[in-house]
Parts: sequence; structure tokens; C-alpha cells
Amino acid sequence: MRRQFIAGNWKMNTNRAAAVALAEGIAKAAASVANVDLAVCPPCCYLEAVGKALAGSKVGLGAQNMYHEKEGAFTGELSAGMLVDMGCKYVILGHSERRHILGETDAAINKKVHAALAAGLTPIVCVGELLAEREAGKTLGVIQCQFAGSLAGLASERMAKVVIAYEPVWAIGTGKVATPQQAEEVHLALRKILAEHYDASVAEGVVIQYGGSVKPENAAELLGQPNIDGALVGGASLKVDQFLGIIAGAKENR
Ligand code: 13P
Repeated sequence: MRRQFIAGNWKMNTNRAAAVALAEGIAKAAASVANVDLAVCPPCCYLEAVGKALAGSKVGLGAQNMYHEKEGAFTGELSAGMLVDMGCKYVILGHSERRHILGETDAAINKKVHAALAAGLTPIVCVGELLAEREAGKTLGVIQCQFAGSLAGLASERMAKVVIAYEPVWAIGTGKVATPQQAEEVHLALRKILAEHYDASVAEGVVIQYGGSVKPENAAELLGQPNIDGALVGGASLKVDQFLGIIAGAKENR
């Protein structure tokens, strides 16, 4: 049985004091959470401070991006090894803000996925369609294409370690959440794609999160869908009580 996995993507928010306070609040509350995996992904400059605040807790540390090379003249970039060194277990890759604001391609994301797995990190690989693509009936085609490009060339054992996050771009930070049925349709399609590229056991094992305006009020219904295994949470992960409300929604379901 897949475990629910709730991760907070803090994006470019907080400062040192706020990041540490948020991490401490979540770590404390997480002590009473069972059967749900948890992570927070602060800005990289606060990874170490947040890691200290999470020490000994059930909350894993994640980064929001990395570069695929191991080391060298890549000004401003961080390698997978550096993230491991900072205590990271996870790294978000191919987030829509990186795809659409910073121009990341599937090919670039694919290199990062390989490098992250080689270093022992669990990549949380984001896919999702734009509003215009959904309205043109292209959602499943876009997802298929992003899957094939971002996750190319992974052996089954590697694919089994990947977390996929379905984040429809039109639902991110807009308050417009996908309906549970809209999200479930794409999650089921992703599982079918996994079965076609790999096999039933990989398809059944891979955790697929939903992201896009997840809040305590809509979490339980989304997470109650058979193929939705957790959430990648933006705005609501910046408030301890809201993040906990979403975790409570996950607990109701498994
Ligand atoms: P919001 O929860 O703020 O819509 O952001 C979702 C997201 O992009 C998580 O990675």
C-alpha cells in the first residue's frame, strides 16, 4: 500500500527566523502523525537552519531545485551531493515555475532526475498542463510528453524511487483547485503510463502527489481519490495550522 506523502514547497518565502519557527512548529506537531510521510522544502539558503530545527523529527528536508553536474564552474548552482551534504532527502525538480518562468526543459529536468537518484535523493518530479492546454483538450498529451521527456531512461528500480507531482499550472497559487475528479483522471492516466513504460508493480508503487491550491478544506476529498497519494503544498504550507489541516486530511484516508 502506498503511503500518503505531504510536502511543503515554501518557494521564495520566509526569512531565517520565520523558516526556523515554521520548521519547529511542523516538527513538533508531526510527532503525533503516523502513516503519513512529511517533508518541507525551504529556500536553499535556509536548508541548514531548517535541517537543524527538524533534527530527530519525522519531517524530511527537501530542496526546490539543483543542477545535474557534480561540481565545477557553474556559478550559482548547487549539486545533488551538496544537497545530501546539507541533510536533504528530497529535491523538487521540474516545478512549473521553473519550467515556465525560468525556461527549464524536459531534457534539463531529465538530467537532474538522473543526478538526484544517483546521489541518493528522492526527486519529486512535477508535471502539469497550462490552462490553454486543458481548454484545448490537450491535458493528457502534455502529461504524457512531460513524463516521457523528464523521466526518460530510468531503470525500474530507479523509477520506483521517484515521486511524481501532478500540478496543473492553472491551479497553482490561484485558489482554483482541480476537482477531485479532474485530478484523479490525470493521476490514473499517469499510473497507466507507468504500467506501459514499466510494469504493474512499478505503477502501483509510485507515489503521485497532487499540487495546486491544496488547503485544509479540500485536502480530504482530494486525498481520498484512489490514485492521489499526497500533496505538494505551496501557500498553505507556510502556516503551521494549515499544513497540519492538510496532513489531517491525509490521515482520514489511509
Ligand atoms: P499552491 O499550493 O500555493 O497553489 O502552490 C502549489 C505548488 O506549486 C506546490 O509546488
